[in-house]
Formats: sequence, C-alpha cells, structure tokens
Amino acid sequence: MIKVGIIGGSGYTGGELIRLLLNHPEAEIDFVFSTTRAGKPITSAHPDLLGVTNLEFTGEVNSSVDVAFLCLGHGNSSKFLKENAFDQTTKIVDLSNEFRLKADATFQGKTFVYGLPELSKESIEQAENIANPGCFATTIQLGLLPLAKAGLLQNQVHINAVTGSTGAGVGLSSTSHFSWRNNNVSWYKPFTHQHLGEIGESLDSYGTKTGKLYFLPNRGNFTRGILATSYTQFDGSLEDVQQLYQDFYKDDVFTHVSDEPIHLKQVVNTNQCHVHLHKHEDTLLVTSAIDNLLKGASGQAVQNMNLMFGLEETTGLQLKAGVF
Ligand SMILES: NC(=O)c1ccc[n+]([C@@H]2O[C@H](COP(=O)([O-])OP(=O)(O)OC[C@H]3O[C@@H](n4cnc5c(N)ncnc54)[C@H](OP(=O)(O)O)[C@@H]3O)[C@@H](O)[C@H]2O)c1
Repeated sequence: MIKVGIIGGSGYTGGELIRLLLNHPEAEIDFVFSTTRAGKPITSAHPDLLGVTNLEFTGEVNSSVDVAFLCLGHGNSSKFLKENAFDQTTKIVDLSNEFRLKADATFQGKTFVYGLPELSKESIEQAENIANPGCFATTIQLGLLPLAKAGLLQNQVHINAVTGSTGAGVGLSSTSHFSWRNNNVSWYKPFTHQHLGEIGESLDSYGTKTGKLYFLPNRGNFTRGILATSYTQFDGSLEDVQQLYQDFYKDDVFTHVSDEPIHLKQVVNTNQCHVHLHKHEDTLLVTSAIDNLLKGASGQAVQNMNLMFGLEETTGLQLKAGVF
C-alpha cells in the first residue's frame, strides 16, 4: 500500500483527497495534518465521512510517507516544506501554484513536474514531485492543447469560463458569502488571471507561439465545476478538427470529445473532462468542462500519484456523476 500524508486537511481539496484516498485500493492515509484541528476527528470538518472513518487530524508529520499532498493556500507550500523535512524518497504533490511555472519548478533541490497527464504522461511517470495544475488552467488547456500541438492556435483566443464557489476555498469572503453569491454572477481578474502563465507555457511547449489569450473568469452561483468556452479564427473543417481532437485524446482515459453540446453536470463529481467543438463561419468554438475539485485538483492529484507509482490511471477514480 502507498502510505499517504495530506497537509491542509480541513480545506476543500484536502477533504476531497481524503474522500478519494479512503476508497483507493492501493493507498492508505497515514496522517492528515491540520494547523487548526489537530486532535479533532476528520468528521469535525468533513461530516459526510461520519461512519466512514475514525481518523483524526494531527499536528505531527510522518516524514517517511511515500507521498505527501500539499493542499495549502498560495505561498504556504514552500513555507511548510522549509519547516517540515520529508525523506528523500517521499514524493510531493503540491496543489498550489507555487511550483507550476518552469522558472519556479525547482525548490530545495526538488524538481516539480507539471502534472497534466494529457500533456506529459511520460514525464509524470518518471517524476519525483508534481506541481498539480490549476482548475481553470486544466479546463482551458484540455480545450486547446490539440489545436496548439497542430500549430492551429496562432490567432487571438477568447476564453470565457465560469467556476463554482468551491474554487475559492473554504475561507469565507464577501464574494463567497451565500447572500452575495446566490442568484448572482460576476467576472473577476479580467485578462490577468494568474493561471494564464501555466496555460501559456503548456500551449507554447509544442514549439509554435500561441496567439494572445483573452481570458475572462466568472463566478457562478453553484458550488462546483468549471465550464469554459474558447473561440478563435479557424479555417479548417469541423470534421477535420473533431478527428484531430479524437486522435489527440485517444489514449487518455479521462478526457473525451463529445459530439453533443456539453453541460456542467455531466462531469461534476467525476475526474472527467468533456470537450465539444462547434464551428460558425470562420470561428471555432471549443467548450470544455471539469469538476474543479476533482480533475481540477484532488482527482488529478490522485491520477498523478497513480502514474508515479505505476498504477492504472483510473485506480480509485472511477466516480459517478451527480447528473441531476
Ligand atoms: N479549490 C479549488 O477548486 C482548487 C483547485 C485547484 C487548486 N487549488 C489550490 O489548492 C490549494 C488548496 O485549495 P483549497 O481550495 O483546498 O483551499 P482551502 O479550502 O482554503 O484550504 C486550505 C487549507 O490549508 C490549511 N492552511 C494551513 N495554513 C494556512 C494558511 N496560512 N493559510 C490558508 N490555509 C492554510 C487550512 O487547513 P488546516 O486548518 O486544516 O491546516 C486550510 O483549510 C490552493 O493553493 C488552491 O489554489 C484549489
């Protein structure tokens, strides 16, 4: 069994990892570290696990676990690693954006591989440590990677994406407060969202400079999921680009191209990404959707663990969509 430590266990991605790993046939949770709840039962933060686990949060780290998942807010992963040393053999999977960019990928002599399996499965299989991609970044990249690889993304790309409130973490803010969020919608960080950096690095990694990305993130009044629409000028036929996407994702178990228009609920509570293509005159519209806490965070983190430990990618991740 793979011995796992989870750090930041009372947050949203930490909770989702606990849920996944309690049901993972090849992994066991060794400890769940919490700065605020040491000694309290896991169910004090995640009451849905009542009757499922008797685990308690701890304030102690077991430095010899096989893999440690860091589920901390931005800036806290490097701080945590400075204060808590792990064995050389412990693999770190960091869910924050601290180590995602190439310029940030080395820390304390550790190299972090960008963990998007559809982009770089072989590197992930060989990786010692993983920088898990962002949730918007995952949705948008999975919508655009096939075009980038084919050199067909040189014109401007306009991206509009809407996320559920869990994307902002468990801490309450004015825009995640029920009274503000319910029956409401708004944009934020127009054209400047921090995920543009990792998206750009991945799209450009195929050797052709991508056109300018205009990204408008939106807050939706639902709890989980991201639906992104990206459109760009495109001269080819719909049939050819559908084939391009089918070929690109033919070996990927979680990303699928849909002939039918997609909606959010078909992927929520799963580790799937669904992609749909539509052409209008000379414009190609790509729609992509994921669950931000699964394919956008903890599900992808487990997928990366599976790859690093030589397991089937789907191990512990065969989940059921909520649908209704
Ligand atoms: N939410 C998403 O959809 C999503 C998707 C992809 C990536 N991410 C990234 O994953 C990381 C965790 O996200 P999350 O949504 O799980 O966040 P969260 O709900 O806010 O949880 C973070 C947890 O980290 C712990 N923590 C310890 N020291 C902290 C500090 N100084 N400041 C803040 N938290 C501290 C807290 O748990 P304890 O009290 O138990 O220690 C806190 O509950 C973030 O870097 C985020 O950007 C999130």
